[in-house]
Amino acid sequence: MGGPNLIVVDDHDALSGAGAAFVADVIRERPAASVVVATGRTPMGLYADLAARVRAGRCDPSRITAIQLDEYLGLGPDDRRSLFGWMRRSFLGPLGIEDERVVRLPLDGDLGQACVAFDRELEARGGLDLAILGLGPNGHLGFNEPPSEPSAHTRRVRLSPVTIEANARYWGSVADVPTEAVTLGLGPLLSARTILLVVSGEAKHGIVHRALEGPVGPEVPASFLQDAPDVTVVVDRAAWGDA
Ligand code: GLP
Repeated sequence: MGGPNLIVVDDHDALSGAGAAFVADVIRERPAASVVVATGRTPMGLYADLAARVRAGRCDPSRITAIQLDEYLGLGPDDRRSLFGWMRRSFLGPLGIEDERVVRLPLDGDLGQACVAFDRELEARGGLDLAILGLGPNGHLGFNEPPSEPSAHTRRVRLSPVTIEANARYWGSVADVPTEAVTLGLGPLLSARTILLVVSGEAKHGIVHRALEGPVGPEVPASFLQDAPDVTVVVDRAAWGDA
């Protein structure tokens, strides 16, 4: 055990480089890895750095499977706010991942049943090899909002006011942020063989310490990372502080 492996770096650029090196190493060791891909601002430099490694022939992600982490509900397929669209622009496109190597979350039909089937499919694939995650301002992972149990399945969720406020940075205003979403469950996420959490900026200072050093429980879903088997956290100085 021993808890997460913590890597504190100087700034966001260094986080991107360290994060990309970490992901490239996992792909080298497990070329057919199932990889969960977060959106959000924090991993964007990491993905750009990884794409540069791919172009330079230093990383070959052609056999990985990319798994969607979360998605808003109620959007049309071409909506600018689609998190899948963001994943495509930032990760799938730049890394050249083919459509047949992407697993998307269910968004319609009988969502309850479709989410159960989704988790079964992940299990049938042998589970997740790597989850690349960011940290929500309230300690959420994906859209596993507080409170979330560590066994939580993939499911439909209502977004909290804090998350809607934070997501307004992406789309303009609070009114532009959908109120419901589907998230990969905390259960399958915490079972990933390897988890990489990236955390950047002063605004995450309190929550990253709370998640990694505070009590473990559903009120801070990311706190369950303290008990997961193989977790690396890359955090910049602005988020971690001088401690
Ligand atoms: C969002 C997303 C998460 C993301 C997190 C942090 O709400 N649901 O997948 O990791 O919040 O986002 P950011 O990196 O922009 O701070």
